[in-house]
Parts: sequence; C-alpha cells; structure tokens
Amino acid sequence: MEPLMDLPRRPRRNRGNGPLRALVRETSLSPQHLVMPCFAREGRNLSEPIPSMPGCHRHSVDRLVAQAREWSDLGIPAIALFPATAPEAKTADAKAALDPDGLVPRAVRSLKDALPHLLVITDIALDPFTDHGHDGLLSPDGRIENDSTVEILCAMASIHAKAGADLVAPSDMMDGRVGAIRQHLDRQGFLDTGILAYTAKYASAFYGPFRDALGSAPKAGDKKTYQMDPANRREAMLEADLDEAEGADILMVKPGLPYLDVLRELRDRTTLPLASYHVSGEFSMLKAASERGWIDYDQCLLESLVAFRRAGADLILTYAAADAARLLA
Ligand code: PBG
Repeated sequence: MEPLMDLPRRPRRNRGNGPLRALVRETSLSPQHLVMPCFAREGRNLSEPIPSMPGCHRHSVDRLVAQAREWSDLGIPAIALFPATAPEAKTADAKAALDPDGLVPRAVRSLKDALPHLLVITDIALDPFTDHGHDGLLSPDGRIENDSTVEILCAMASIHAKAGADLVAPSDMMDGRVGAIRQHLDRQGFLDTGILAYTAKYASAFYGPFRDALGSAPKAGDKKTYQMDPANRREAMLEADLDEAEGADILMVKPGLPYLDVLRELRDRTTLPLASYHVSGEFSMLKAASERGWIDYDQCLLESLVAFRRAGADLILTYAAADAARLLA
C-alpha cells in the first residue's frame, strides 16, 4: 500500500517501542550521579521535619548517620552536609565555624567512621554561623568583607579536611577563595581533599526553603554584592575560568533548572566535571504542586534530573536524591 506521505526520514521510527528507545537514549541517569544535601543539628535521636521541604529533616548526628546509611544503600555515593546552628551559637564573627569539635567536624568524623565509602562534602561559608545571616564578615558600614572572610574560610576548610571531608565546597562567592583554600590545604598536607566550587552561584529567590531550614535568611540587605546577577551568563564564564585556574576540582552552577544555559555553555568550555544544584525552592515546588494533585512528583522529578544530565551535569545535588534512587532501582 502506498504511504500517504513520501518521507525518507521518520524520526518516530526510533521511538516505536521501549527497547528501541532505550537503545538510542542519549543521556543516562542513575543514583551514582546524585548527591544528597542534608542538615545536621545538635542533640541525640532527633529528626526535626522542615515544613517548607517535605520529607527533609534536621538530624542529630546519630540519626544522620543512620539516614546516610540508607542513602548509601540506595547507591547514592555522596552527601553534602549543612549545619543547622542553634541561634544562640551564632555570632557576628561566625566563631562557631572554627570550632574543631563543632557540629560539622563531629558529624564528618561519625559519618566517615560508620560509612567510610560514602563521600562527605562540607559547606564552606559563614551564613550558618553568623547572627546576621551573611556568608561573610560584615563591616561596620554594612559591607561584606572579602579578604578577611577568605581567611576564615581557609581555616574552616582545613578543620573539615582534618575531620575527614572528601571535598570542601565553598558556597560563599568571595573572590579568590578557591585558590586560597587550595593553597592552605596543600600547605597542611591535605593534598587529596578536593574542592567543589560553587562557581556560578546566583542571587536567587529559590533558596527560600533552605534559609528556613538553617534559620539563615539575612537579617538586613541581600546577597547581591557577592552572589551573581541572574541576568548574567558571560560573568559565569569569568568565574569558571578563575575557579579552574585557582585549582577547583569540580565546578557547580546553582540554582539548577533556571540556569541550564549556563551549565550547557560551561560544558563546552571546561574539561572539569560539572555539578548542578537542584536547590530547595525547585524541590519544594515539585512537592507542593504534587501535594495539590497538579503534577506527578515522580515523573516530574526524573524529567528534571535527566534535564540536568542532558545539559551537561556530571553530578546533581538534589534533596530528592533518595526518592530518585528508589525510582531508578
Ligand atoms: C549559603 C547557601 C545557600 C544554599 C546553599 N548554601 C543559600 C544562600 O546562599 O542563601 C542554598 C541551597 C538551597 O536552596 O537548596 N552559603
């Protein structure tokens, strides 16, 4: 029978059935690509739900280790640790960040003791520890000081490295911090501790639920003098060139889905591995819409994560890592 149309190319042929679609699929997504961000708090046997991030908790260290074991059993290779510092422990100079027996070093030691193969990535920034909520030191005239902040970040990084962190992740956006941290770690002999740089971190409103989780919303002002303007793409390339030259091991773009163009362009520009951060607001939007019955959480989640991979991400930080790993099993 003669076809109605004479088409030499019929792309639908390759979509005809599941095995064929699998055969020609361009992008893979598996638990090995996922990093679970998580929140630690003081105390014992506590898992405190975070209302704006359904399914996420602030865990005491013992509970965190138990959770991390579950995540690891699901095939998730790494976690990114954030400390929920008690309000009374926050100060203008963020001194809790430099306590060698603080929450982060204790959590890292417990995690690495119990689960040596689970990679632990620690956050390098002052906002969990400052009473004003900024990522750096605040000068009397309300500016965020760069160089004095970087000094503290270096000290923090070596405390985390000593505790056993596999990678430190500066999320602060101070100038020159990657190079300074690299040099500081090397001088102390931490040659194998990697740096996951928050290379292009934008001043985004999608961080809202995370700031609820840590109680870290800035008391005054915003983060626009250090985090990037959402309108800028070329500037991300400048940041990437600097981080790469300064010794970063992995470059990250944050937030995720709204900035896939930046990720895509970076993919063409660097040979380094790339990470993308599917941030709290993105995660909570999926949860909220699915709670209303407006979208299917599981399918929208996997579609979002494969989009990161398609755009060029090697690894994805997502609060949905465990959900995704279960779906992919
Ligand atoms: C701050 C930091 C933020 C996030 C990670 N580290 C928030 C901010 O910059 O205010 C956000 C992560 C998320 O929203 O999931 N150093």
